[in-house]
Formats: sequence, structure tokens, C-alpha cells
Amino acid sequence: TTLERVSVAGKDYDCDEWTNITPKILSYVGRNLHTQKDHPIYIVKEVNLPLFAVFDNLSPVVTVKQNFDSLLTPKDHVSRNRSENYYINKNTVLRAHTSAHEHELIRSGLSAFLMVGDVYRRDTIDATHFPVFHQLEGVRLFNSQQVKKRNYLFQLFSKCEGNTADLTLFENGQETADKQMCHTLETSKLLEFNLKQTIEDFTSLMFKTKLPPLNLNTDVECKWVEAYFPFTHPSFELEIKYNGEWIEMLGCGILKQQILNEAGACDQVAWAFGLGLERLSMKLFDIPDIRYMWTTDDSFLSQFKNHEDFKSIQFKPILSKQPAVANDIAFWIPNDYAMNDFYDLVRSVDDGLVQTVTLVDTFVHSESGKQSHCYRIYYRHTSRALTQAEVNNLHNRIKDAAESQLNVKGR
Ligand code: PHE
Repeated sequence: TTLERVSVAGKDYDCDEWTNITPKILSYVGRNLHTQKDHPIYIVKEVNLPLFAVFDNLSPVVTVKQNFDSLLTPKDHVSRNRSENYYINKNTVLRAHTSAHEHELIRSGLSAFLMVGDVYRRDTIDATHFPVFHQLEGVRLFNSQQVKKRNYLFQLFSKCEGNTADLTLFENGQETADKQMCHTLETSKLLEFNLKQTIEDFTSLMFKTKLPPLNLNTDVECKWVEAYFPFTHPSFELEIKYNGEWIEMLGCGILKQQILNEAGACDQVAWAFGLGLERLSMKLFDIPDIRYMWTTDDSFLSQFKNHEDFKSIQFKPILSKQPAVANDIAFWIPNDYAMNDFYDLVRSVDDGLVQTVTLVDTFVHSESGKQSHCYRIYYRHTSRALTQAEVNNLHNRIKDAAESQLNVKGR
């Protein structure tokens, strides 16, 4: 990009060699689907957990420190790459997760809070991925029973039977698969139990009690799988079955004690989870394509209006009955090429016609060693049929833009 300054959410920022934010992505900043009444993202957000303070207007523009360093992300971790994130400049990024705010909110003294907001990631293109989506993140801190300074509602050992006087939160021990070095096994297991219970209660609240006669979606298959996050240990993911496939809906775990210590809560322990609202909402309302979330089309939005109870909503897809039109594009790639560069370029040129892009073939020339990629682009509008002419037109514009902006050569 040749811009020198860029304006994001009303503030100006200097550009540098890290800047990769596009005008298309900027157009989503401030849409705030999660605060738009009757939007499907707003509806799932409203099913809140009691006791939690809610923050839904934290700015999506954060520092690299907030997004990564405060969460102990190693300096060379891939999640920091330019190919994964939208950088405004080398110190400033559109948040990739709501976890970016954990440190500051813990520091402010809160013990149970939810954050809801738009998060930005460079990613593949298909019916469940969009470069902007929404997360609901929950964090809950606990004292030991002995420490009765504040919020003794959240004493970790208060429900344990028998003599609990000897139970302590911390020890000078070993890290294992089940716990952090400084946590006792009791601490870690109780936190894990409370975390999973909270999430399972929330999931069944969302899914299990759809009222008859609209009880088509009452069953949701869930499973817990082990996971890794730099800022939690142990860590877990909750997957749900969606259209016959297991998709990741939520990441969670026991917060690393170092984060609590650095945020001034060294006598407490905590769990955290981050839930993808699009996936929850798509599953709950049977919405077949994530692009619907961004439409301003009333035939979509009106289906969610004036509902007494979100469980009575049954979304009627308006996805075009026409099958997708597939068109291939192949080019030789330069050495510093990242697939997300191509996906972002397609996103920038597209005006709502592209549903899915898949890499169908890679090829290495035996003499020159040069590599080529072939992508299949599936064109399908969310509500109307496409003409061959408009598909060809867009396909050619994507080709031209790739050649002029990505330093690739058409095959
Ligand atoms: N921030 C993680 C993500 O976006 C999710 C997460 C939140 C994991 C809180 C653990 C604890 O993937």
C-alpha cells in the first residue's frame, strides 16, 4: 500500500511496512452487528450469563502488546504473522480476538466479565469464514476460601465437603498436562470443572429447549478436545457438529497465572473462554452462509424482528436455488507468496458473489523449480441467480488484480 496515513474508527495512524489493512476491511469497522437490535449476532449475545459485567464497546483497534504480548504469545509465534492479521502499522492491529482486553479488565479489578466484539483475521474463503466475525469472551476469577477480601461469592473451594482448611490455590510444583506449575491439582480440576459446566449449561440453554413446534434443531452434538493457547493451561476446545462436520466453536482454559500476576491479581486464579458468535448463530438459526450476517437486505433481517423468544425463530434460507458456478484460476507464485494474500485480494474485488475458494492443485516446474497454484472459485450470491456475464467479469477482474498486485504470473 502506498498510503501514508490511514484513518480507522475516527483516528489517524501512520502506515509502515507492516500495514496491510484494506479499504474493504475498514468498511466493516464500526458496523457493530453485535449492538444492532434484532440482528442474529445481537440475539445470541443477549443470552447472557448472570453475574458477568458486559463490555461490548471496546475499540477493535488494539496494540500489538494487547493482542499478543499481554497474552504471553511468543515473539516468533505464527499467530503474529502479517499473513494472519490486519496490521494498521507495526504497533497497531485490528484485534484478532477479544482476549486482547483481558489484561486491562483484570487490572481494573473485575472478577467476572464478558467482552463482545468484532475480531479480524485473514483467512480462507468459504461458507463459515469471513475476515470479520464476533466473539463473546468470558473471564471469571476466584479467590481461595481463606482469602475473603472481595467477592467471596467466587471462592473456589466453598462447595467442597469435609475439611477444606488445608486446600490451597497455589503450590511450588511441576507443570503437568492437567495443571500449571504453581497451581495445586485441586485448583486446576475445580476450575476446569466449573468452566466446562458453565459452558455446557450455556450451550444447552441455547440449543436444547427450542419450543415446539419449531423444535427442529434441538439436538446439538458437542465434544471437548484438548487444545493449545499461549495464555491458558490446560486448554480445551468445544466442537459442535454443523452440517455433518465438526467445527470449532469455542476455545477455553485456565488462565496462565503470570497474566493474573502481571495484572495485579496474584492472589486469584481464573478461567476464560472465547466463543464464536457467527457459528453459534448459524447453527441455532440454520443460516447456511456467513455472508448473510453482513447483508442489509430486509428479507434476511426481518426474519429476526419482533421475536418474543429467540427459540421461536426458524430462519428460511433465501440462498439462491441456483448451483454455484465454478471457475478456475492458475498462476506462478513468487517466493514470498502467502495464500491469504490471494484470499484477501478476492475479498477486496468481490462484491458479494464469491462463496468459496479452494486450492485444487499445486505444481512445481521440473526445470525452473517454479511453483504454481490453481484455485477454484465458486460463485454464488446469497439471494439471487448469477448471470454468466457477471461471473466472467468478476473472474477477469480477480485475475487482473492478482497479476498487478501480487506479483504472480497467469498460466
Ligand atoms: N482467544 C482464543 C481464540 O480466539 C479463544 C480463547 C479465549 C481461548 C479464552 C482460551 C481462553 O481462538
